[in-house]
Amino acid sequence: MADAGSSAPPVVEFHDVTVAYSGRPVLWNVDLTITEPCLFGIIGPNGAGKSTLLKSGLGLVPLVHGTARFWGRPLADVRRRVGYVPQRETVDWDFPVSVMDVVLMGTYGRLGWFRRPGSRERSLARECLDRVGLIDVADRQIGRLSGGQQQRVFLARALAQEADIYFLDEPMAGVDARSQEQIFGVLAGLRSEGRLVVVVHHDLRTAATWFDRVALIDMRLVATGPTAEVLTPDNLRRTYAGQVDLLQEIGQAVAARSRTT
Ligand SMILES: Nc1ncnc2c1ncn2[C@@H]1O[C@H](COP(=O)(O)OP(=O)(O)OP(=O)(O)O)[C@@H](O)[C@H]1O
Ligand SMILES: [Mg+2]
Repeated sequence: MADAGSSAPPVVEFHDVTVAYSGRPVLWNVDLTITEPCLFGIIGPNGAGKSTLLKSGLGLVPLVHGTARFWGRPLADVRRRVGYVPQRETVDWDFPVSVMDVVLMGTYGRLGWFRRPGSRERSLARECLDRVGLIDVADRQIGRLSGGQQQRVFLARALAQEADIYFLDEPMAGVDARSQEQIFGVLAGLRSEGRLVVVVHHDLRTAATWFDRVALIDMRLVATGPTAEVLTPDNLRRTYAGQVDLLQEIGQAVAARSRTT
């Protein structure tokens, strides 16, 4: 596409998004445009409104005002093309749902609720479990996995949806360093397939090296753009007022990144 980017609508566009819970605003006038597929990090302190921002795009919380659009269209037009992994809650299910069953749920949108998954869906689900390193526990009951393993099952379920945009809320939380690298590999794979991956992420050090672009959020949008341009001491100070140790750490991580790029 010779003229890619000149007139195509952005992949995701939040315009003037304001969200309130019980009348108390938690996200104000957020304008955020992601023009093309990439690995995009949403960064900010606890309670900054990161999860709320993802939910506002997915129609899971009402907007006081503003709009969220995907390829210039409302979510209702493209819902199946947008995958979501919510922030982790350990599943303590007693009933016998296997890991495989959970991943197969990712294929239901395409199938419709009344068709049972067939061999194509099963092999897709196995492939997704393999990608997140959990093929060995495919038959285990979901409640009998660790929290970090459950997190990866939900990632596999999202992969099975074969979406073009992924919203992932802290997919690395509670996951050990090796599994984090593996998950990052999966996300980088999605990017190289031309998909947009939007990730709420907590660890500033890995954020500096993993994401192509980021948005700093603290109830408002503080800054957005290419990672190295956004994660400046000044922007971080505005986002994480008072957390000085963290600022030093991120300064070093960003400097290390600039040396390698
Ligand atoms: N359902 C809700 N009802 C009322 N207040 C809520 C609700 N969900 C979130 N909040 C509040 O809204 C603010 C933003 O919450 P949100 O979960 O979006 O933050 P976050 O940036 O994702 O935080 P964390 O890093 O802890 O996940 C917080 O003050 C939170 O307490
Ligand atoms: Mg959150």
